[in-house]
Formats: sequence, C-alpha cells, structure tokens
Amino acid sequence: MADEWWRRAVFYQIYPRSFADSNGDGIGDLDGIVEHLDYLNDGTDRSLGIDAIWLSPINPSPLKDWGYDVSDYCDVHPELGDLAAFDRLVGEARRRGIRIILDLVPNHTSDQHPWFLESSSCRSNPRRDWYIWKAGSPDRPPNNWVSMFGGSAWKWHEPTGEWYLHLFLPEQPDLNYRNPEVVAAMHDVLRFWLDRGAAGYRVDVIHGLMKDAEFRDNPPLERVEWGSQTDVELKQRHLYDVDLPEVHEIIRGFRRVIDEYGDRMMVGEVWPRDNQSLAMYLRPGELQQAFNFRFLFCPWKASRFRAQVEEMERILPAGSWPTWTLSNHDFPRHITRYAQGGDAQARARLAAVMLLGLRGTSFLYYGEEIGMPNAEVAREHRRDRVGRDGCRTPMQWSNEPGGGFTRSQRPWLPLGDCAVNVADQMNDPHSMLSFYRRLIRIRRASPALVSGAIRIADDAPDDCFVFVREAAGSRAMVMLNFGEERREIRAASGRIALSSDPAREPGAVKSGMLALSPNEALIIEIA
Ligand code: GLC
Ligand code: CA
Repeated sequence: MADEWWRRAVFYQIYPRSFADSNGDGIGDLDGIVEHLDYLNDGTDRSLGIDAIWLSPINPSPLKDWGYDVSDYCDVHPELGDLAAFDRLVGEARRRGIRIILDLVPNHTSDQHPWFLESSSCRSNPRRDWYIWKAGSPDRPPNNWVSMFGGSAWKWHEPTGEWYLHLFLPEQPDLNYRNPEVVAAMHDVLRFWLDRGAAGYRVDVIHGLMKDAEFRDNPPLERVEWGSQTDVELKQRHLYDVDLPEVHEIIRGFRRVIDEYGDRMMVGEVWPRDNQSLAMYLRPGELQQAFNFRFLFCPWKASRFRAQVEEMERILPAGSWPTWTLSNHDFPRHITRYAQGGDAQARARLAAVMLLGLRGTSFLYYGEEIGMPNAEVAREHRRDRVGRDGCRTPMQWSNEPGGGFTRSQRPWLPLGDCAVNVADQMNDPHSMLSFYRRLIRIRRASPALVSGAIRIADDAPDDCFVFVREAAGSRAMVMLNFGEERREIRAASGRIALSSDPAREPGAVKSGMLALSPNEALIIEIA
C-alpha cells in the first residue's frame, strides 16, 4: 500500500487553454498537450521528468468560470478537442509513463447544464430536488450565506418563485447531495472517465458538497482565518455551508467507486476550518490526498513553512500522505509572491527544493519550472470575473511572436513577458528549467526523498528550515536558508547532491558547521 504510484509521483498541473494551441485558434487544446509530452517526460534527462498531469476542467462549459461551470460532464469542450483527442492524450501519455488526472467539479454545475434547465423549468419537475431550492420572499434571501465570489449565495428565480443556492457565481448552482439520485449521477461521471483511462481526479471544492440540513445562518467571523482578501470580504465563519460532518459519507462513496478500479486516486481541493479538519478528509476510505493551502499562503518565513509541515506530520492519520503545492490557477504565481524583499530567482529555487524535498507528493503548476512570473493583464484583456488571469496566461515556449504557444495573432489571454521561455532555458545548464530537471532526477534516484520518513532539525537558525529524509539504506539532508544573510548550519557528512547557489563547489562535506549563502538550498546525500 505504501508503494502506490501517486505517493511517489511528481504531478504537473496544466491549464488546458493555456498550454499549447495546435490549430492556431489562439486557445490551447488537448492535441497541443500531446505535442509537448516529450518536454514533460521522454524518459531522458532532457525532459522535466514528471509522472502525472492534472488537467483543469476540459468539459463543455459556457466559461463563466472558465470550465468550473460544467454543462456536460461526459464530453470535451469543442475548443479543447473531443473524446478522441482525450483518448489520444491518455494513450500518448501512457507510452511515456505519464498518468492523467482530471478535474471533477461535483459541487455545482453550469446553469446551462440540462439538469439545471430541467430543475428550473417548474417546481414539480422530477429534477427539481437535484439543486437546492428554497421558498421565501424575493426581498429576503433564505439565510446569510455569502458566495465565495462575493454577495449573497442565493439567487431569486423569478419564473418559479424560489431561491436557489450558489456558493460561487449565480451561473454555478449547487447540486443537492442529500438527494441519492445526484450522488448516483456523480458516481456515473466518475466511472465515465476512469473507464476511458483517467488515473483519477482532482476534486473541486469537495468540502462543500454537503450543506447544513437546517440552513442555519453562519456566525460572524471572530478572526481572519486565511489572511486573504476574500476572507476579509466574506466576514463570516463558514460553519454551515461547507466542511460539514456529513460530507465525509459522500467522499467515502466516491472513494468506493475509485477503488473499483484498483490503482486510481483522488486529491481534494479542501478548505477546512483548520488542519485538524483537513486530516479528517485523509482518513482511510476517504481522499488519498488533499492540498494544504495554508502552506501555499505562508509568507517567506522558514518558521511558517516549518510549522505547517510539523503540524501535518503530527496530525495526519497513520498511513496517509501529505501533498504540497505552491501555485495553481487561483493564486498569483509563487515566484511573484516571493519577490517582495528578496531575490525572486533564488527564492523560487529554494521553494522548489522544499517542495520536492518534503515527505509527500509534489504538485507543480505549468510554467513554474521556467520561473514564469505572474503576468500583468491589461484591463481590456481580462477574462476572469474575479481577477485570476495573471496566473493563467499562455505557456512561454519561446520568444517568437505567439511565444511558441500559438500561431494566432490573438491568444485567448495575452502572453506574459516571453524573455522567460523554454527554448532559451533548454540548453542552459544554469537555467531554472535545468535546475528543476536536476532536482526531479535527484528526487527520483533517492529512496529517502521519494518515500523516506522526515525528521525536522530543531537546532537550525530561525530563518532556516532543515530536515532529514530517511529510508532503508538511503538518507538525505535538505537545508534551506530563507534568510538574506549567510547562516551556519549543522550538516551531516556526505556528498552535495544539489545546491541552488551556482558558486557552491560540488563534492564531499564533513559533518560540522556549514555556511549557507542567502536563500541557498542544499541537498546532502548522507554517507
Ligand atoms: C475552485 C477552483 C476555482 C473555481 C472554484 C469554483 O476553487 O479551483 O478555479 O473558480 O472552485 O468551481
Ligand atoms: Ca486551439
């Protein structure tokens, strides 16, 4: 069990519209991804060396939330390809040892999904109860719940004279998981793609599938939990709309379907009340993996990252496995977030060593391996209603017009600064890309880094995070200096496997104090 493929894997998230456009319409597509699979893993040192891809939603969608508003769960958006293109992608990926997981969006559908069209057609429609409808008067929503995107989470539906619930956009009505027909329908969706060769799912907003049976008001927020802008705006504790005890039964049902196939997995997008609650989602029979967004939100401080890792290691149920990520399609890219007050390139290298050095599965976000910064998207080109375009701009393959992404003059989102690009970095041994390739290779070759236990050093200076990974016959020490000063750290004797400081001499180190340069990250293979 401890050897399941997803524990050892390095995942790579692709935002399909922005990876590679094969037919020149300015929109990335599935065939474009096929054309670049060798870049991701061709079995040689030239490629990045990832094991699995997470595709953000590929389903038909009116694109009010860029695919997270699904209008058909069992097909491919025509701009991205078709089912045959999906089959090609899975087949070509498999030939290279790459697995594909899909984004499942079970909490809500598009308001254009046939289920909602039926449900909203009249109060007596057999699918009425597939969504969450409430009687009331048009001037007062049924309770105080707010949408994650702002405003009331209820929308008055004039034609049938009732409110419906939407935790996100009004065009994303929430499904009713207290109705067993909805649960069964989503199980069929799960099977549809698993039958076609999907290796599993990243499950969107999975903590939200169950709502309070009595629809009680959320209490006001006593303190800002997530330190994020949204939370300040939302100003309530999400006690009754998400993260309910009942959701775990729904998850166990999903897991039973996954387990019918033997080797598939689910990683949850979970926004729990606290890490203790996150750990509940990782109990046996529930999710195999769940993102910890508190780690992603840590400011550039060794102690903050370390505290997240320590807490997860302390509270995870036995046999469960951590998951680490620093960027995705919802937040500014981390190289940009960490740029304030320091050298962004050096920090991004350190962050990569931390991500791939920790015990757990790592998730990379397309472009981070070349140090693609968050892009400034001019007002007239913005597409996302809640301002996330900057981390979703096209992959920068080269510095040619179209960035090697598209032949079109008008990509769906403008390109960022293509001075940062794959072509230039491919053959440069000092590039970010070469650093990621080396790091992933070192990880793969080290049983300690792939699957070893973790022990966090408690004698490291405050602005350093140092840990040892250990498996039978293999030990590695990961030393991270988050500070802007040189720091002396107690090192084990061994061989330097990797350093983020180009000036560092390779070779042997003796046990004793070792000086790390500012923002240096070092991996020692312990003798
Ligand atoms: C998740 C997705 C985000 C989407 C939202 C609603 O948070 O990551 O992109 O907008 O769910 O589906
Ligand atoms: Ca295209």
